[in-house]
Amino acid sequence: MPADEAVRAALAGVAPEPGAAKPDPILVVDDVTRAFGGLKAVDVAHLEIQRGAITGLIGPNGAGKTTLFNLLTGFDRPGSGRWRFDGRPLHGLAPHRVARRGVVRTFQLTKALAKLSVLDNMRLGAPKQTGESFFGALLTPWGRQEKANTEKAHELLVRFQLDAKADDLAGSLSGGQRKLLEMARALMMDPTVIMLDEPMAGVNPALTESLLRHVKSLRDDGMTVVFVEHDMDVIRDISDWVVVMAQGTVIAEGPPEALSSNKDVVDAYLGAHHDRALEFDAEGNPIGETAELVTEMESVELGVDPSQTPTAQSVGLDRPDRGERT
Ligand SMILES: Nc1ncnc2c1ncn2[C@@H]1O[C@H](COP(=O)(O)OP(=O)(O)OP(=O)(O)O)[C@@H](O)[C@H]1O
Ligand SMILES: [Mg+2]
Repeated sequence: MPADEAVRAALAGVAPEPGAAKPDPILVVDDVTRAFGGLKAVDVAHLEIQRGAITGLIGPNGAGKTTLFNLLTGFDRPGSGRWRFDGRPLHGLAPHRVARRGVVRTFQLTKALAKLSVLDNMRLGAPKQTGESFFGALLTPWGRQEKANTEKAHELLVRFQLDAKADDLAGSLSGGQRKLLEMARALMMDPTVIMLDEPMAGVNPALTESLLRHVKSLRDDGMTVVFVEHDMDVIRDISDWVVVMAQGTVIAEGPPEALSSNKDVVDAYLGAHHDRALEFDAEGNPIGETAELVTEMESVELGVDPSQTPTAQSVGLDRPDRGERT
């Protein structure tokens, strides 16, 4: 059975509700919180990520998606909480240790990395085995390790059609090629779980198909993918399971088909109204089109307890768009 069908079949019996238990979870998250000042950016009671699946993580701006990624990969520290990877605790580990265990997130190409060649970017993505352990350094001659890393980098560059660019400065790549490089660089760690934060952002639409194929190929190779994306068509196309966050919490989970039955409303919730100025009266009650949107949203069935269905205000749609996406 192809990887996608096997994963879908495994998830078919899972209840579409927040915190649902999965048949074979690779990541299990419990009671994770992170506050910035008075704001609870993340407050996830329970979340399980199914092994070998592509999990789409969606939610409006400021929902806490990136913060959750940062916490799970050790780049940020939670106020509280714990999470296990393959049954072993992963919380409290530094990012490089998390990565060596096999949980890797992509990073945007920073200015510093843009000044390095594509190949050097790839080499930097490799595990630093020799430098980290004295005994490791004795056992593995630096030159041999370096050679192996370079070979692996070349193989990955071929896979991502970047081999012709190996010696070019990373900064000279197009938006889409940068995203491919970010993905290829993450694969230098041989991850088991790969977390992609808006890998399509700023990419020419002509390239999104090829990017999506690459993401699906990660699943075909047996990797578990967690994928943040705002485009609902992309989410429906690529996800085996969808997790919806708002205001730091998981408000819904389910198969992507559960979202399509509410396409217009969900698109309104996450898409078209994303950066529209919402209107409230002096008491903070929504008025005009905003009130209509709230009513519409309250009728959304995303597998959420209706009494907990968020309003436009409570899901943070009243926040100004921070203009990160282009
Ligand atoms: N370092 C920080 N300091 C203060 N507040 C922060 C910090 N990082 C995130 N926040 C706040 O935490 C909340 C969650 O932000 P986060 O970036 O995780 O959201 P997101 O779901 O990734 O949003 P987007 O879709 O816009 O990327 C937001 O209100 C944000 O302003
Ligand atoms: Mg984000």
